[in-house]
Amino acid sequence: MISEQMQDALNKQLQKEFYSAYLYLGMSAWCSENGLNGSAKWFMIQFEEEQMHAMKVYHYLLGQGNHIELLSVKPSKTQYDSLLSCFEQSLSHERAMTKSFNTLCDMALKEKDHATYTFLQWFVNEQVEEEATVGEVIGKLKLVGNGNGLFMIDSQLLDRQPQVDLP
Ligand code: FEO
Repeated sequence: MISEQMQDALNKQLQKEFYSAYLYLGMSAWCSENGLNGSAKWFMIQFEEEQMHAMKVYHYLLGQGNHIELLSVKPSKTQYDSLLSCFEQSLSHERAMTKSFNTLCDMALKEKDHATYTFLQWFVNEQVEEEATVGEVIGKLKLVGNGNGLFMIDSQLLDRQPQVDLP
């Protein structure tokens, strides 16, 4: 069993992961409504991955004999100015999530909770990958601007395949 303080922090992280899912579902909806089907699929896979992240935290808490709290998830917008804006907001969100995991790691080390620290390392690595991937798409979108190049990138995003990594 992990400490009550760590349990509360992980329950908050569970809420943040579900919010992340909601955020990406909103982006996927906006892309679908604007004919960006490749990007809609990309964000839909992101939505599914965020739910998987939430469930990793959920199963970890239960596995440690701790208590689950399902905190409310705030609404997420479904209106964006552009595809670039979606990805820029995604990057800023992922940077905030990285900070959140770093704080959790600090807390785990302070409590000498090595099981939780080890558990969190998967997320620390995942954040590095997510920030890099989103940053790369932003770079391409900035390069091409609007027009034909945008649709070329959209069709490239259609190639994304779901990650097979269930909790
Ligand atoms: Fe759950 Fe996008 O990190």
